[in-house]
Amino acid sequence: MTQGLEGNPIRHSSFVIPHSAILALKTSCDETAAAICTADGVILASRIASQAEIHRKTGGVVPEIASRNHVLHVRPLVEEVLGDAGLSLKDITAFAATSGPGLVSSLLIGTSMAKALAVAEKKPFLAVNHMEGHLLSPFIGGSTIRPNISLIVSGGHTMIVRVRAAGDYQLIGRTRDDAAGEAFDKVAKMLGLPYPGGPEIDKLAREGDPAAFDFPRTMMREKSFEFSFSGLKTSVLYALPAHDLKDRRVLANLCASVQEAIVDVLVEKLVRAAKTFREQLVTVSGGVSCNRRLREKLSDRCAAEKLEVLLASPEHSTDNAAMIAFAAAQRFALGARSPLEADVDPNLPLVA
Ligand code: KG4
Ligand code: ZN
Repeated sequence: MTQGLEGNPIRHSSFVIPHSAILALKTSCDETAAAICTADGVILASRIASQAEIHRKTGGVVPEIASRNHVLHVRPLVEEVLGDAGLSLKDITAFAATSGPGLVSSLLIGTSMAKALAVAEKKPFLAVNHMEGHLLSPFIGGSTIRPNISLIVSGGHTMIVRVRAAGDYQLIGRTRDDAAGEAFDKVAKMLGLPYPGGPEIDKLAREGDPAAFDFPRTMMREKSFEFSFSGLKTSVLYALPAHDLKDRRVLANLCASVQEAIVDVLVEKLVRAAKTFREQLVTVSGGVSCNRRLREKLSDRCAAEKLEVLLASPEHSTDNAAMIAFAAAQRFALGARSPLEADVDPNLPLVA
């Protein structure tokens, strides 16, 4: 096993060779991930080599350290997912990798490896948008992709997208400044909590009072579907000097109140978008979709509004390659193939 591997491999019990299997790599930030998915969207294997421990020491991701670690992990991961699925390189129909958005030096490792495998095996290469991976992840292991209004909430992005079908997307709104996950992480850093801060705030908030501090719900009442989270950070900064962070009750109250402010805006805008565009289904993905309060509030609100809600499973919420393999399988079925000259793009848009 590769050092630092996290998560249990998903095994394909019968080891029957599928008609078509896509091997995907994801190295857009600090996780090296590999997965294999059948053409009809069944995940045969998925593994992640996390670098969270390494980057915790610096309080955030250092790009060069991340890419050096991708180099160390990527080849063993390919072998491990092939072993988990009971397949060899010859059984793979196409090789895919995330080509953006993300850190250039990290994206290059996964795409170079996938292209090299595609050339060596004389199979097609597919470049996959990281955001499309998140966007379709709620459908992994379940129903076929249906029209929906989708919220992607990760460390780098916060956006509402209208999904008409796989590959047919309309951007409804996005953040003007910080992403929701970034707001969690930056506030957590101010509170002295370790990186990544979102899960830490989620845990501490369970002991706190969400009404203890009245933090701003910026743009919540505005008609647009845009977000802004940078003001929240400043409000927390101003509130801090008057409070003792060593007092666990104060810390928990701060966490619960910040979390409530973020969750309120996300839920309100998503539900309003679903009603505006008359969609019955809402989906949520990205690392922040693991947040317990977000999941709880969204389920309650959607039940009250008679909306169906589909959340990415926790293992497919934070960055993983299963979602990239799944998105690649959808694209492959639509006839998509990428040229080997396809470059990485740190700001690759979901909708051109
Ligand atoms: O999707 P992701 O793994 O990576 C990006 O594409 O950015 O998202 C990572 C983000 C981080 O900001 C992390 O703090 C946040 O997701 N996150 C959470 C929770 N789990 C992860 N935020 C709030 N509550 C959580 N439980
Ligand atoms: Zn992501």
